[in-house]
Amino acid sequence: MSNRVHIFDTTLRDGEQSPGCSMSVEEKVRMARKLLELGVDTIEAGFPIASDGDFEAVIAVSHEVSNVEVAALARSCALDVERAARALEHARKPRIHTFIATSDIHLKYKLKKSRQQVLDEAVMAVELARRYCAAVEFSAEDATRTDPDYLEQVSLAVVAAGASTVNLPDTVGYSTPDEHAALIGRMTYVLGDSAIVSVHCHDDLGLATANSLAAVQAGARQVECTINGIGERAGNCALEEIVMALKIRSDRLPFTTGIHTEHLYPASRLLSEMISFGPQPNKAIVGENAFAHEAGIHQDGMLKEPTTYEIMDPRSVGVPESRLVLGKHSGRHALNQRCEDLGFSLTREQLGGVYMQFTSLADRKKGVRNDEIAAIVRDVLGG
Ligand code: KIV
Ligand code: ZN
Repeated sequence: MSNRVHIFDTTLRDGEQSPGCSMSVEEKVRMARKLLELGVDTIEAGFPIASDGDFEAVIAVSHEVSNVEVAALARSCALDVERAARALEHARKPRIHTFIATSDIHLKYKLKKSRQQVLDEAVMAVELARRYCAAVEFSAEDATRTDPDYLEQVSLAVVAAGASTVNLPDTVGYSTPDEHAALIGRMTYVLGDSAIVSVHCHDDLGLATANSLAAVQAGARQVECTINGIGERAGNCALEEIVMALKIRSDRLPFTTGIHTEHLYPASRLLSEMISFGPQPNKAIVGENAFAHEAGIHQDGMLKEPTTYEIMDPRSVGVPESRLVLGKHSGRHALNQRCEDLGFSLTREQLGGVYMQFTSLADRKKGVRNDEIAAIVRDVLGG
């Protein structure tokens, strides 16, 4: 089995369908260009039956990107599949992604269908999709709460009908890493070489990345994810997290992706400008504080050797540099460095005077700005 993990980006579909994240066709095209630079394998551009905007977006993205696969989502019914196929007409590498829920909860309360009906509709949708394109993905919505024997039956049937990827979503973010690994391991074993097993984890318990990694270790070779982890409710597995975990911990996770990681931060910034919020400051990889250090002990270590407190070079993910934040936890070493950066060369005594005024100001504020430090230095030098 190859160790290459296929990155299926669904920022423009699952990501976009969450509150505050809707994007215009033009914005989706701009984001698609960035995803292309980033090196994702598939861009899921929309859900064509859902709205005219989504239909147009899939067409526009298909025209824009020629070297990467473009996917369109469709429920497992003829109307949806045909609409997706129409939207993908101009894609050089189209993929129809059809889905239906398979858990008993969804069958009983949402679909009001029997297991046999769902199985038949899944097979029909895949067969129809295959008439339009070679790459067909089937998703068993709520797979992680589905009876595994039935999931196995559906998975085998859709592969026999022509699906090349079987996605097993943790739709409600309910799974745990060990449980997810067991399910994915079983399905990978059952499907063998006949299809790629994919995962699509939601983050309701904050486990989306951990579950996706466990799935890869168990045999999944496609991960569905989004920039900044946006998506329904608590979001999806964050692309930047899964990619960097695989890269930084390749000693434990010997898998590769095609992602050019130095584009991760620019992609995160572009998305934040287009939707109504950015990642939280302490978000892994792309958050404002991901490479910021305030504690004196940490700053001292960083100034001596960055690997003391950083497991990755910020430039490797496109962040220009680490930041030493001067606040009440900072030490003399970092303060002296900042004074030098600001053009002041201080004696030990002068630094002592600056440090006293600095700590008294920092005690009263959330952080101390460069202009405030310069004012303190001038005061000390003038006095
Ligand atoms: O979360 C989910 O189950 C989905 C499917 C449509 C893939 O987004
Ligand atoms: Zn989803």
